[in-house]
Formats: sequence, C-alpha cells, structure tokens
Amino acid sequence: MSLDPKASRTTASAGDAFVTPMQITWQFDYAAEIEKLRNLYSKSKRLQWDAEVQIDWSQPIDPSKPIVEEGRFGFDRMPFMQRLSQRQREAFTAHVSAHRLSQFLHGEQGALMVAAALVHAVPDHEGKLYAATQTMDEARHVEVFERYIRKLASVYPMTPSLKRLIDATLQADHWVKIAIGMNMIVEGLALGAFHNMRRMTSCTLLRQVLENVLRDESRHVAFGNVYVGHAIAAMHPDQREDVAGFAFDALHTLASSFGGAGGRGRYEPDPGFRDVLVNADIDPGDFVRGLKEARDQGVAPEQAPGTIHSFKDLMIPALVRVGAVTDRTRALFAEAGIPLYEDCTVLESMEDRETGEPIL
Ligand SMILES: [Fe+2]
Ligand SMILES: [Fe+2]
Repeated sequence: MSLDPKASRTTASAGDAFVTPMQITWQFDYAAEIEKLRNLYSKSKRLQWDAEVQIDWSQPIDPSKPIVEEGRFGFDRMPFMQRLSQRQREAFTAHVSAHRLSQFLHGEQGALMVAAALVHAVPDHEGKLYAATQTMDEARHVEVFERYIRKLASVYPMTPSLKRLIDATLQADHWVKIAIGMNMIVEGLALGAFHNMRRMTSCTLLRQVLENVLRDESRHVAFGNVYVGHAIAAMHPDQREDVAGFAFDALHTLASSFGGAGGRGRYEPDPGFRDVLVNADIDPGDFVRGLKEARDQGVAPEQAPGTIHSFKDLMIPALVRVGAVTDRTRALFAEAGIPLYEDCTVLESMEDRETGEPIL
C-alpha cells in the first residue's frame, strides 16, 4: 500500500517567529578549565556520522503495517478500531505513526535551535565548542526523522503542549534555564520515547535511525548533568531559586498536558490528531465515543516490560541530581501531586558513561 503525501491534509503552518531575551556572551579565556566538557567535545567530534551514508535508506517500509508491535499504541486494542474497514485501519496506522514521529521531528528542530542558542549563551569556551557539536547532531536528527516520515505519510503539526514547552525554553533569560528545559526536560521526554520505540518497532530502518540518534543523545544528557550541575552549585541562592522555579513550571506544564503526573491535569485537544482521523476517513466524533467505550470496558495500552517512563526514570531524577529542586520547589511538586523520583539508575544507563558523572 502506498499513501500519497500530497493527498494528506495537515494544518502545519510554514513558520513562527518571536524575539527572545537571550544574552550573548563572548569568552576570551581559551584555556580549557572544564576537562569533562573538553572530553565530551572531543568525543562528539569523533562520533559525527553522515545520515546519508550510515543509514540504508533503500530499505522498503510498508506504511500500512504497524511500525510498533500491535497493542503497544493502545488504539488497535479499542473495540471501535476493530469495527473499522481494513482500508481505514491501514490508513490510520500510517498517519498515527507519522503524527507521532512528527513530534520527534519538531522536537529535534527545537533542540537544533536550543543547541545553537547555547553556543551564544554559555559563558565557557569549552561549553561553546561542545554546543556547536550538539547543534550538528540535532541538524542530523531533523534530517533523519523528516526523511523517515516522508516514507510513511506526511509531516503533522506540532502538538500545542510540546510547542509551548520548547518556546518557553527558547524564551528563557539564562542559559541554565535553556539547558534545563532542553537537555533535561525535552530530551528526557525524547530519550524515553526513542528508547521505547526502538525496543518495540518492527521496522529495521526506524530501529537503525533510533539507534544512531540515541548514541548522540547520550552525550546531550551527559552535557546537561556535567555543565548544569556545575553552574547551579556556583549560583547565588536567589538565582538558584529562580532556576528551580523555571524547572518546576516547565515540568508542571508538561505533566498537566499529559493528564498530570499526579493525575490532576487535563488532556488538551490536538488539531494534528484530528487531521490523522480525517486522513484515515474516521469521524473524529465517532473516535471520541470509541475512546469512551474502551475506557468503560477497561481497555488500556499494554506497558511492555522494560518500558522507560520519562518523568520517573529520566527528567525528575536528572533535575534532582543537578540541584534544580530546592526545598521551596519540593513543596510545590508535592502540592502539584508530582512525586520527586531520585533513582538515577535508568538515567545513568542511558547517558555517556565517561563524562556523565558530575564534575564537582
Ligand atoms: Fe536530537
Ligand atoms: Fe539532543
């Protein structure tokens, strides 16, 4: 089955521009002082790869076949989906996968801009060099996801909650907030999603893409830990509180958009997902009734053993570890019903080993 991308309806707008208050810093002291950052930079240079050469793009993929094992997305377990025609189900499979991967693509574009912003904003020479390599990594990630999605269907718009989170990160006034928003929160979310999809996908091409991207991402997570921990420890307590407040707000916004880590949030409508349904010839109203029917019957997505939970295993332990949670924000997290997980086992297993430990 092949799907004509031009026939698909999407609401992606061409562009979106805003002004940021970012401060740009020159650094004329070129002497290496942060050895682990220098090592991370060296490693990043050595491990650059060309997506056109490293990945065999000639591998065929069938957009109508699930790229993730049946049952894992949860939708195909809904009685409503089982009543649809085969044509509708196949179209839904292709478009829902493209919608999900489009979020990876847009997130990577956000990471590309944030990494470039870090080149401008970080105060240390080695930090600027490292951030330049992350910028190239993220450009490559944009390239590979865009290319893969085109094979499946078309690029779908960014979900409003992800856009809000990355915009807030880009509009932050201090580089530590930018690094927290991106290297810990957005990349924590992405790392969990990439890892889970790599384990569950039946598509060899997608697995290759994700394995290569994950190798780069392990350095990005290590950078957040090495550099942000160092900067927070050196901050005046008032500034630390300001940064901790940003971390809480970002996480709380994200948790709310996911239905709440503490279960108090609200799902918000996603116009892109509505387009998925329309492109698959499914009535959105019928789909919503199908969701309610599945919920009433207790049908829920399966959690495969080894599934990584981005909040619990990656984002929250990373924030606690670098000192971005203070006594004041601890109380805010408790009030919001977001547990503060401190176990770094999964996080450590996914970050660059040689450089991942704190430098203090
Ligand atoms: Fe990336
Ligand atoms: Fe990244």
